[in-house]
Amino acid sequence: MLKRQVRRTAGSLQPPQSDPPLPVPENKKILVWVGDELLPRDSARVSVFDSVVQGGDAVWEGLRVYDGKVFKLEEHLDRLFDSTKAMAFSNVPSRDWIKDAIFKTLNANGMFNNAHIRLTLTRGKKVTSGMSPAFNLYGCVLIVLAEWKPPVYDNSHGIKLVTATTRRNSPNSVDSKIHHNNLINNILAKIEGNLAQAQDAIMLDQDGFVSETNATNIFMVKKGIVLTPHADYCLPGITRATVMDLVVKENLVLHERRISLSEFHAADEVWTTGTMGELTPVVMIDGREIGDGKIGPVTRQIQNAYKVLTEGLGVPIPRNAES
Ligand SMILES: Cc1ncc(COP(=O)(O)O)c(C=O)c1O
Repeated sequence: MLKRQVRRTAGSLQPPQSDPPLPVPENKKILVWVGDELLPRDSARVSVFDSVVQGGDAVWEGLRVYDGKVFKLEEHLDRLFDSTKAMAFSNVPSRDWIKDAIFKTLNANGMFNNAHIRLTLTRGKKVTSGMSPAFNLYGCVLIVLAEWKPPVYDNSHGIKLVTATTRRNSPNSVDSKIHHNNLINNILAKIEGNLAQAQDAIMLDQDGFVSETNATNIFMVKKGIVLTPHADYCLPGITRATVMDLVVKENLVLHERRISLSEFHAADEVWTTGTMGELTPVVMIDGREIGDGKIGPVTRQIQNAYKVLTEGLGVPIPRNAES
């Protein structure tokens, strides 16, 4: 009797229901790398003793696959290893081992274009529940979750943002330079965005200056000059760095400085950057139309330059890596 009860409720306290539709139905059949093996989506899971379950104690990266190549792979792995250093992880797998797991996952799924990889490295399983990393005696756990994913925002027409009351974490609390899985700060801001029917929410720093959105970095244009906030409170985004280079290469003037919200409200153009959504025009912030409410010329110029870069650059995915 007990056995039956255990089996029936394992994994869910709800009565069984039909699966909700997936945004991309092809993702139903994906294989996910967990630990050191590839598993079907529904069997891919970590232990209840894993640090990511116990305390969000993990680091992550989002990467994109274009035309048989992983864009900015080395840069993402650099940031991942910086995060593991700051978080004092031990038994971290090598760069080559992680790359191999990524390539095996992409090969197994036949994903060589239009895919996004959510790469997570947890501190690993604990010998007993609790906070201390001293309980982590099994080594880190790698998750390579690759999905078919077109850019997530409407990059042709633009998006609306609102400003969240939730402030972005400061280096006084949790340093935004660590790309960790403690995402509650950003999730609370995203909830504010959802409630206001905006695509994302702008997050301010402790002094009221704009830091980034809950999921992306942010740029504005005023009188032909491109501005972006210092990376004091925001994630130093890899797309942000790429776009800053592009702005200079396109012979535009770039200023990295503190920017107040009213400057964003009165901007000629605004866009956000991130691996998941690429370059996304912003046409409204807090009910204020940005410029004339249409995608501006500088935004288009940098969008085009970014597209050229993603078509050409990237680490080639070796085909038929053993899976
Ligand atoms: C809060 C936040 N800002 C910005 C970004 C964009 O970073 P990247 O360009 O490296 O994808 C991300 C992506 O993970 C993020 O979570």
